[in-house]
Amino acid sequence: MRTIAIGFAMVLLLTIAGTSVRSQESEYSRKGADTCLSCHDNTATLAIFKTAHAVPSDSRGPFGHGQLQCEACHGPGDSHAGRIRRGEARPPIFAFAADSTAAIESQNGMCLECHGSDVGFGWHNGAHPSDEVACSDCHNSHASSDAVLHVATQPEVCGNCHRLQRNDTMKAFTHPIFEDKMTCTGCHSTHTDDIANVMARSTVNDTCIDCHAEKRGPYLWEHAPVSEDCGLCHAPHGSNHSGMLTKRAPLLCQGCHAQSGHPSIAYGTDGLASNMPSQFLLGQSCMNCHSQVHGSNHPSGSKLMR
Ligand code: HEC
Ligand code: HEC
Ligand code: HEC
Ligand code: HEC
Ligand code: HEC
Ligand code: HEC
Ligand code: HEC
Ligand code: HEC
Ligand code: HEC
Ligand code: HEC
Repeated sequence: MRTIAIGFAMVLLLTIAGTSVRSQESEYSRKGADTCLSCHDNTATLAIFKTAHAVPSDSRGPFGHGQLQCEACHGPGDSHAGRIRRGEARPPIFAFAADSTAAIESQNGMCLECHGSDVGFGWHNGAHPSDEVACSDCHNSHASSDAVLHVATQPEVCGNCHRLQRNDTMKAFTHPIFEDKMTCTGCHSTHTDDIANVMARSTVNDTCIDCHAEKRGPYLWEHAPVSEDCGLCHAPHGSNHSGMLTKRAPLLCQGCHAQSGHPSIAYGTDGLASNMPSQFLLGQSCMNCHSQVHGSNHPSGSKLMR
C-alpha cells in the first residue's frame, strides 16, 4: 500500500515538474529532516516538533524510529532538497493546502497512509466529500496547537465553511458554542462512516439526550414529535425564539394541531371578548396549560398539562 502511494506521489511530482518519468528519479533524502531543516528552519515549520506527530518514541509516527520524518507527509524530497544551478527552478515537493497543486484525494492519501484505520473507511463515505475537503482544511499539522481539536477554537474552523450554521450560533438563543463551552463536534461526527448520519450518536435524539438526559423518557404520556426528532421544534444551532424554538408558540404547535377550540388570535373580533386577552395565547401561550410539552409522567397527564 505504502509503495503504491509513494509511486503515485512520484508520478504526481514528476507531472507537476513537467518532466518525464524517465528523466528524473524521485528519492527520499538521505539525512531526512536534517536536510530539510537546513533551509526550512522558521518557527512556523519547526512548531511541528511540539505536536503529537513528533514523539520520537512512537514508532508509528513520522518522527519515530525508521520513519521518513518530514517526507512521511511531503513525499520523496531528495531532488527538491538538492543543489540547483543558478537560474534553475527548484524541483517541487509534495505540498498541502494553498501550496498544493496535487488533487485533494492524493493529499488526503498521504495522511491516510497512517490514519487508514482510525479515520479510514469512514472518511470515504462520510459527510465531508473526500475529493473536496482536505484533512488540512481542518487540521493544521505544523501548529503546536491544532485549532480544530480545541473547544475554544474549533467553531471558527468549521464556521469558515459553514457560514449559515455559524451565523445561527450568534442568534439570541443558542448553545454556548461561541462561549467556549461546547463544540460543533459535541453534536457532529466529522469522520463519520455513514453519510446519512452526521451526528455524534446514531440519531439526532440520541445525540441530544447525551446531554439532556431528562428528556429521554420513556414517559407515561409521550408527545409523539419529541420521541421522533427534537429538531421538529428546536433549531439546534440557534434561533431568535426563546428555548431555541423553530417558531414561537402558538404557531409552533399549530403547525401540527388544529385550531378548533383553541383560538389563534390574542384578541377576539366580536363582542365582549374583544377586549379580553386570550388566556390561550399570552404568556406561555399553549404552554400556559400544556406545560409538559416533552411528555408527562402524571397519571392524568394525557393532555400534557401536568
Ligand atoms: C536548499 C534549500 C531547501 C531544502 C534543503 C529543502 N527545501 Fe523545501 N523549499 C525550498 C525553497 C526555496 C522553497 C520555496 C519554493 C518556491 O517557492 O518555489 C521550498 C518550498 C517547500 C515547500 C512548500 C511547497 C511549495 O511549493 O511552496 C515544502 C512543503 C517544502 N519545501 C518541504 C521541504 C522538505 C520536506 C524538505 C526536506 C526533504 C525540503 N523542503 C528541503 C528550499 C529547500
Ligand atoms: C504530519 C504530516 C507532516 C509532516 C510530518 C511534516 N509536514 Fe510540512 N506540512 C504538512 C501540511 C499538512 C502542510 C500544510 C499546512 C499545514 O497544514 O500546516 C505543511 C506545510 C509545510 C510547508 C509550507 C508551509 C508554509 O508556510 O508555506 C513547509 C515548508 C513544510 N511543511 C516543511 C516541512 C518540514 C521541513 C518538515 C519536517 C521537519 C515537515 N514539513 C513535516 C504536513 C506535514
Ligand atoms: C507516519 C505516519 C503518520 C502520517 C503520515 C500522519 N500521521 Fe497523524 N498521527 C500519527 C501518529 C502515530 C499519531 C499519534 C496517534 C496517537 O497518539 O494515538 C498521529 C496523530 C494525529 C492527530 C492527533 C493529534 C493530537 O494532538 O492528538 C491528527 C489530527 C493527525 N495525526 C492528523 C494527520 C494529518 C492531517 C496527516 C497528513 C497531513 C497525518 N496525520 C499524517 C501518524 C501519522
Ligand atoms: C471537517 C473537519 C475535519 C476534517 C476534514 C478532518 N478532520 Fe480529523 N478531526 C476533526 C476533529 C473535530 C477532530 C477531533 C475529534 C472529534 O471531536 O471528533 C479530529 C480528530 C482527528 C484525529 C485524532 C484521532 C481521532 O480520531 O479522534 C486524527 C488522527 C485525525 N483527525 C485525522 C484526520 C485525517 C487523516 C483527515 C483526512 C483524511 C482528517 N482528520 C480530516 C476534524 C476534521
Ligand atoms: C473546507 C470547508 C469545510 C470545513 C472547514 C468544514 N466543512 Fe463541513 N462540509 C463541507 C462540505 C463541502 C460538506 C458537504 C456538504 C455540503 O456541501 O454542505 C460538508 C458537510 C458537513 C456536514 C453534513 C451536512 C449535510 O448536508 O449532511 C456537517 C454536519 C459538517 N460538514 C460539519 C462540519 C464541522 C463540525 C466542521 C468543523 C469540525 C466542518 N464541517 C468543517 C465543508 C467544510
Ligand atoms: C446541539 C447540537 C448541534 C451543535 C452543537 C451543532 N449542530 Fe450542526 N446540526 C445539528 C442537527 C440536529 C442537524 C440536523 C441533522 C439532521 O437533521 O440529520 C445539524 C445539521 C448541520 C449541518 C447540515 C445542515 C443542513 O442543512 O443539512 C451542518 C453543515 C452543520 N450542522 C454544521 C454545524 C457546525 C459548523 C456547528 C458548529 C458551529 C454545528 N453544526 C453545531 C446539531 C448540532
Ligand atoms: C454536548 C452537550 C449538549 C448536546 C449534545 C446538546 N445540548 Fe442542548 N444544551 C447544552 C448546554 C450546555 C446548554 C445550555 C444550558 C444552560 O445555558 O443552562 C443547552 C441548552 C439547550 C436548550 C435550551 C436553550 C434555552 O435557550 O433555554 C435547548 C432547547 C437545547 N439545548 C436543545 C438541544 C437539542 C435539540 C439537542 C440535540 C440536537 C441538544 N440540545 C444537544 C448542551 C448540549
Ligand atoms: C413539540 C415541540 C418540542 C419538541 C419535539 C421538543 N421540544 Fe424541547 N421544548 C419545547 C418547548 C415549547 C420548550 C419551552 C421553551 C421555552 O422555555 O420558551 C422546550 C424547551 C426545551 C429545553 C429547555 C428548557 C427545559 O425544559 O429544560 C430543552 C433543554 C429541550 N427543550 C430539549 C429538547 C430535547 C432534547 C428534545 C428531543 C428529545 C426536545 N426538546 C423536543 C418544545 C419541544
Ligand atoms: C411536529 C408536529 C407537532 C408539533 C409541532 C406539536 N405537536 Fe402536539 N402532538 C403531535 C402528535 C402527532 C400528537 C399525538 C396525537 C394523537 O395521539 O392523536 C400530539 C399530541 C399532543 C397533545 C395530546 C393530545 C391528546 O389528544 O392526547 C397535546 C396536548 C399537544 N400535542 C400539545 C402540543 C403543544 C402545546 C405544542 C406546541 C408546544 C405541540 N403539541 C406541538 C404533533 C405535534
Ligand atoms: C387555558 C388552558 C389551555 C390552553 C392555553 C391551551 N389548551 Fe389545549 N387543551 C386544554 C384542555 C383543558 C384540553 C383538554 C380537553 C379535553 O380533555 O377534552 C386541551 C386539549 C388539547 C389538545 C388535545 C385535543 C383534544 O381535543 O383533546 C391539543 C392538541 C391541544 N389542547 C393543543 C393546544 C394548543 C396547540 C394550544 C395553543 C394554541 C393549546 N392547546 C392551548 C387547555 C388549554
